Order: sequence, then structure tokens, then C-alpha cells
Amino acid sequence: MAFQTIKGTHDILPEDSTSWQKLEHIIHDVAARFGYSEIRTPIFEDTSLFSRSVGEDTDIVSKEMYTWQDRSGGSITLRPELTAPVARAFIQHNLGRKSPLQRMYYMGPLFRRERPQKGRQRQFHQFGIEAFGSKFPEQDAEIIAIGYIIFSKLGLKDLSLKLNSLGSGECRSHYKKALQDYFNPLKNQLSETSQKRLESNPLRILDTKNPDEQTLLAEAPSIADFWSEDDQKHFSHVQDLLSSLEIPFELDSRMVRGLDYYTRTTFEFISSNLGAQDAVCGGGRYDGLVETLGGKPTPAIGFAAGMERILMSIDPQEKSTEGNSVYLINLVESASGKALQVANEIRELGFAVTMDTLRRSLKAQLRDANRIGAIKVVIMGDEEIKNQTLQIKDLTTGEQEEIAESDLVKHFVV
Ligand code: HAM
Repeated sequence: MAFQTIKGTHDILPEDSTSWQKLEHIIHDVAARFGYSEIRTPIFEDTSLFSRSVGEDTDIVSKEMYTWQDRSGGSITLRPELTAPVARAFIQHNLGRKSPLQRMYYMGPLFRRERPQKGRQRQFHQFGIEAFGSKFPEQDAEIIAIGYIIFSKLGLKDLSLKLNSLGSGECRSHYKKALQDYFNPLKNQLSETSQKRLESNPLRILDTKNPDEQTLLAEAPSIADFWSEDDQKHFSHVQDLLSSLEIPFELDSRMVRGLDYYTRTTFEFISSNLGAQDAVCGGGRYDGLVETLGGKPTPAIGFAAGMERILMSIDPQEKSTEGNSVYLINLVESASGKALQVANEIRELGFAVTMDTLRRSLKAQLRDANRIGAIKVVIMGDEEIKNQTLQIKDLTTGEQEEIAESDLVKHFVV
């Protein structure tokens, strides 16, 4: 039997990697313009890093992690998300002491053993942005603006921003209690999953897709009623800043997010052309996480976006790149050394040069040049070698001209 990728994992084939590189380039560029530096952390970490931060009762920790016992006895997990590893690195390397504000971003693969479907893989990629050190609303607005700018630059269609505040720690525990008080008398109308969640993590019930439960939710208490005065002030300031940046948003008091570390502002960018897995990006404040993991109390906020979902929601036309590709055809075996040299000279001028190494016919090589979208073909045959000339065919106009070899640079630079 021929080997296949493991269920829920995918190859990124050469024909698709240009779109990935373009996306990565925009992320590096925008992050740098906002003063964020890249951080790269290991693919696997101590299991308890995730159970302590993301939360034991979340789907991610209770069902979806790839975890194994290491030979030395410790429990290791393939990272299911990157906020906890970045917070771990922040504490481990004392980054808070180096600068009161640490702005970082990342890209890379993550692993969750979910049921695979469109837009949901078991190995997927995220890019994310995290800022440690500021508790103020302008930091929230900056983080959301970075996402908005990246998605706009990419031409993401039908995108909406949902915004909520989960309040500070105390607000959340009061809200949890209120939800339990509300749902306990209705317990037998809840699904088995929601009944379990009612005990451990009642906020997760708000995420239900079950229509009967959604009806019950209509009358359920809202988190907004549990915000402290400071929570409320912070949240309305964030909204004012987003309005002044002309970033449209909708308030959604039922949006709870699937990870336990959030406090105050939470948000998601939703794309309506993605189907059931419609969240392109999710994030929020996690002012208590650094302390939970053993660091000094440090306010922080960030987001992560699914790179496969981004690429799925970009118009295919947006994915094409401008061509600077040249195809060099050498038909004279004894001149292959010279042909390799000419190819390098053209590359030095900033072009991508492809050469045939199968010694195919002129016709076959011209077909190949068209296939890869070359803009020009340089042809070296017996006559050209003898006369120290080159034939140059412009594939965009179909015109062909002969130039002296010595005019090569002049031809490509003008
Ligand atoms: P998350 O909402 O779990 O948040 O994931 C963020 C994004 O990753 C999702 O909106 C989605 O686009 C993508 N994603 C998640 N799971 C999958 C999957 N199985 N297949 C494909 N794409 C997926 C976090 O991970 C937080 N660490 C975000 C964060 C950063 N909060 C603060 N800072």
C-alpha cells in the first residue's frame, strides 16, 4: 500500500506554496511596521503548560491534545496553541525586564485532534501577535488593528469583527455562578455535553449549536451585567478607539472563546464564505496568564489566525503573483557551461531563471516556459553560439529579437 498523509494533515504542494509565501511576507512586513519581532518556540512542550493555561475543562486540553509519556517520564504535548508557549518564553527569558513592553509575533504548525472537516485540520498553521506589558485600551486597539490591516491587505472577503468583554477574573466567576443558577432548573432540557459543562465550565454552553439550547440561551443572563465599572470603562474605550480607526465591529455578548485564560476584551474575525468553521482569527486579553504560569503579574493581549482558513477565503485571483520569470533554452550540448553562466547573470539582475536539464526539444521547452508563466525565453542554438548572440522571445507579445551576448545586461535592465 502506498503511504498517505495521516488523517487531518495535508501536504502544502509546490503549486500552493507561492500563496503561503505571499501570506508570510505580508505578515512579516505588517508586524515589523508595528514594531513586533518574531519569536519561534519548540513544537512540543510540557503538557502541564497547556492544562494550566488553556484549562483542564476545555475541549483542547480534555480531548484534542497529542500527548505522550517521554522516555524520561515527563508528559509531553505537541503544541495545540502558541499563547502559552510564548508566555512561557516571556517568563523563562525574563523578557519583561528587558523592556516594559514586549511585542512579538509568530507563525507555525499547531496540533489538535479534532474531527477533520473543511477548514479544520489536525495539523494546521497559525500566525499570531502577542503584546505583554500594557493594560490600556490602546494596546487592545493596536492588536485588533494589526489583524484588520493584514486581512484587508490580503483582500479577505466578507469579514466581520465580533467583540466582547469577559470582564476581570471576579466578574467571570460571578457570571459562571449566574449561568449555573439559570441552567440548573432546566438541566433535563440540556444535551449530555452541556449538562457536563454546566458543572465544569458553564460558559462553554453559550457556544452550543443545538437549536433547542439556543432558545434557552435567549433568556440566559448576559456577561455585560457582571462587568465591574473598570471593565465597562475599558471596553467602551476600546470601542471608541476602533471607531476612530474606522474598524467596523459587532458586539456579541455570547462569544466566550474556547480557552480559559481570557479576561476583558475578546474578539473574533469571522468570514461568511468559510462554512461551519468560519473563524479566521480569535484573540483577546489574558491579563492573568503570566502570573498563573509563575511570572510577575503582566497584562497581555494577542490573537492567532488560522493560515489555511485565510488562504481559503482569499479570492483565487488575489493569489497570483507578478511574473519575473525567464526560461533559458540551450540546444547545444557542448555549450551547457556557458548556458549555466548566462542563467546566473540574468539571476543576478533580479530575475528567476529556469533551465531544462532533460535535454528536451525546443518545442517541449517552449511549452514548459509557457506552463511556468515565463515572461521571456532566451534561446541558444548553434547559430547563436557561433555568432555570440542570443535569441530573446517575449512571451507576453510573441515578438522575438536577436541581441549580442554582450548586450545581455542592457537588455534585461531596461
Ligand atoms: P483559537 O481560537 O483556538 O485561539 O485559534 C485561533 C484560530 O486558529 C482560529 O480562529 C482558526 O482560524 C484557527 N484554528 C483553530 N483550530 C483549527 C483547526 N483545527 N484547523 C484549522 N484552523 C484552526 C488560539 O489559539 C489562541 N492562542 C489565540 C490567542 C492568541 N489569544 C490570545 N493570543
